[in-house]
Amino acid sequence: MACEYFTHKGVLFPCLDYSPENLSYVENEFQVRDDDVFNITYLKSGTNWMVEILSLIRCGGDPGWVRSVLNWDRAPWMESWPGLEAALKYPPPRLLCSHLPIQLFPKSLQRSKAKIIYTLRCPKDVLVSLYHFSKLVHLFKDPGSLDSFLEDFLSGNVPYGSWFDHVTGWMGLKGNENFFFITYEELQQDPWGSVRRICHFLGNELSEEQVAAVVENASFQSMKGNKMSNFSQLSDKYMDHQKGEFLRKGICGDWRNHLSETQSQQFDTVYQKRMQDLDMTFPWD
Ligand code: A3P
Repeated sequence: MACEYFTHKGVLFPCLDYSPENLSYVENEFQVRDDDVFNITYLKSGTNWMVEILSLIRCGGDPGWVRSVLNWDRAPWMESWPGLEAALKYPPPRLLCSHLPIQLFPKSLQRSKAKIIYTLRCPKDVLVSLYHFSKLVHLFKDPGSLDSFLEDFLSGNVPYGSWFDHVTGWMGLKGNENFFFITYEELQQDPWGSVRRICHFLGNELSEEQVAAVVENASFQSMKGNKMSNFSQLSDKYMDHQKGEFLRKGICGDWRNHLSETQSQQFDTVYQKRMQDLDMTFPWD
């Protein structure tokens, strides 16, 4: 069962579980609460790793919640219709996920004190991860060859649109006291320091033992072995479990195993052009 896409305000979305009506509702009518915490990412940037970290921080490192409740119920996906339904029923304080580009995010965010955690990842690794993921999930079209997928990725002809637009759009909130950003690479290099920084941003300081418990229970291996977090419970309607696993490699720099020198240079040319105005450097630069 292959999925089709529709275009909403210039951005592609899968037809399965998404609709223009829902997206308009989320943008114009969804009421953000001051005590909401939003986990926002472009696809394949560490969204579910951050769900695990935030879930564990909420429980002081105790793994009871992450081992008993599915990750998509702990942090519903606001823009899909099952996620929106769950978000509307979620007793506050809500933990919500979104891949929406900033221009499609609920307008009510501007009037709220909700906290936003934005996680970014080396876009070449995002590309490779999304390429593999697109072969597993029925939500997305088969990616075709890596060459053609690279073209699609660089031009934003993929679900949720352009990585460059997403990052430059959300980074416009940098400096806002309710906006925190972190990279997948920082989470890998310094998980303890990263968790402490996230706790500080949330105003939920944990002890050293609790931070260690968060890091341990949110590790790639712990998540892989936890059926509430490894997507093994996801219905066949969404994913072909025979073709691979959601938690694929969980490393930095896997793009080097996939992109040719020419493909990498093609990426760099677009990256430099699209990112020059941002005036920021990232671990992968
Ligand atoms: P790979 O495909 O490179 O392995 P998202 O949750 O945004 O869809 O991102 C999925 C990517 O994050 C996958 O990357 C997945 O393996 C990786 N990931 C998920 N949990 C992780 C963890 N605890 N540690 C490191 N990487 C993790």
